[in-house]
Amino acid sequence: MGKQNVYDDLEPKIHKRIAEAVADAVPVLDIACGDGRLIGFIASGSGCNIYGVDISVSHLTAAREKAETRGISHLVLLAAGDAQKLCFLDKSFGSLIMLYSLHEIQHLPQALEETRRVLRPGGKFIVVDPIKGGKAETLWNESYYGLEEIESMLTHAGFSELTSDFLYDDIVFVSAKLVLS
Ligand SMILES: C[S@@+](CC[C@H](N)C(=O)[O-])C[C@H]1O[C@@H](n2cnc3c(N)ncnc32)[C@H](O)[C@@H]1O
Repeated sequence: MGKQNVYDDLEPKIHKRIAEAVADAVPVLDIACGDGRLIGFIASGSGCNIYGVDISVSHLTAAREKAETRGISHLVLLAAGDAQKLCFLDKSFGSLIMLYSLHEIQHLPQALEETRRVLRPGGKFIVVDPIKGGKAETLWNESYYGLEEIESMLTHAGFSELTSDFLYDDIVFVSAKLVLS
């Protein structure tokens, strides 16, 4: 992401909001956790175990090193893997997070099916991503989904009780629930 910009400045606010949202729904899995900055924030604040999965081994190495530096490696459980085929048992998690990763997943419907599989009934799914048509798209030269598209994909994947709000002009926070069936 390069030099400091308004989106980098938003990080503490976004991490805090996500940590608050998942505090009552553990265990937590950060899907496509990257270098583990969010995981580190949640684990150090809560003292709870937190799981992370990412397809990039180099990102996971950075996440492991960060956790060691912060003295929280005993709380952080990292796995190399694909969001489209998660290496976790059914109904393993109380919350799932996708921060800045929804748009990165190649076969998103498949990944969303996996989120439904590994989440416990009543569990939460938090998505934070830039949306189509905003400044982030130009800054990072990437394509994002519109908010309606995100909501429709989550609904189609079996999630309900969706709430959405903006953390910044084009950064959306979506919370969804897997309702008991
Ligand atoms: C923009 S980064 C966001 C990382 C982190 N969530 C954050 O906010 O800093 C997107 C991440 O998605 C990961 N990724 C892309 N496709 C993936 C997939 N199919 N399964 C798991 N991780 C994936 C990348 O390796 C990268 O770490």
